[in-house]
Amino acid sequence: MNAFANAEKKPKLVLVDVCKNFGGVTAAQDIQLEIYSGEVVGLIGPNGAGKTTLINLITGVYPVSRGKILFDGREITHQPTYKRALEGIGRTFQHPHLLDRCDVLTNGITGSDMAARKRGIQKVDLAKELPRLLACAGLEGINLSDPVSKLAYGQQKLLEVVRVLLSQPQILLLDEPAAGLNNREAEYVSALIQYATEKGIGVLLIEHSMELVMSVCDRITVLNFGTQIATGTPEQIQSNPEVIRAYLGGGDSDAEN
Ligand SMILES: Nc1ncnc2c1ncn2[C@@H]1O[C@H](COP(=O)(O)OP(=O)(O)OP(=O)(O)O)[C@@H](O)[C@H]1O
Ligand SMILES: [Mg+2]
Repeated sequence: MNAFANAEKKPKLVLVDVCKNFGGVTAAQDIQLEIYSGEVVGLIGPNGAGKTTLINLITGVYPVSRGKILFDGREITHQPTYKRALEGIGRTFQHPHLLDRCDVLTNGITGSDMAARKRGIQKVDLAKELPRLLACAGLEGINLSDPVSKLAYGQQKLLEVVRVLLSQPQILLLDEPAAGLNNREAEYVSALIQYATEKGIGVLLIEHSMELVMSVCDRITVLNFGTQIATGTPEQIQSNPEVIRAYLGGGDSDAEN
């Protein structure tokens, strides 16, 4: 547990018995999750395990079938998506969602002032934080007036993380930020996560890159067929026989993706 968690003692985000069914498919079954400020919680599991669904439930894209979601001790289970975003639950997408017709700068700063206004906190200092974040993401050399479509796929994914960090979230949900990135770009993901935790942001990291997950996470939760099969430290997870069988060690595992 990190310094922020010890100081704060109360988790920023809590999921209580969260369930989600899509017809006959159970994508989430009684999920219990806590994220403290400044910690990184990994969410891993095979394809179709229910990882992205959990982000969609936390952000309100999908209503839960059952269970509760608490943010800052307050229930937000039925709150609309935009309100959760304005109050400080930020996310990125498995495939980047950028404004294709806009330039890099517009994409980077979209949403950076709205959240601050809503929460009554100081607006982000763009003159200071934008160059800092672009450097963290390895994007310091790009032309900010270029159309965003000129960026490589990996750069677009990194820019999406920059954008959400400029909105000053309190909880950051990252859906496979390193998927499709080369090794160098994956290191920028680590740097951006470090930036987030230094600001006291609690991070939920979905990733198939075990190298990244094991190096940055304080705790890890493992899903399989919508069920939480383990939660623990990276060491505990790596040696858990059920996790090895379901995900880490199996011949059909995609943990190396
Ligand atoms: N909108 C939806 N309608 C119906 N079924 C859905 C929907 N979204 C997800 N599912 C189903 O829920 C299950 C979990 O899907 P989800 O996308 O959350 O998995 P995931 O763990 O993110 O997988 P991946 O590693 O491939 O991204 C799958 O069986 C999927 O087909
Ligand atoms: Mg997914």
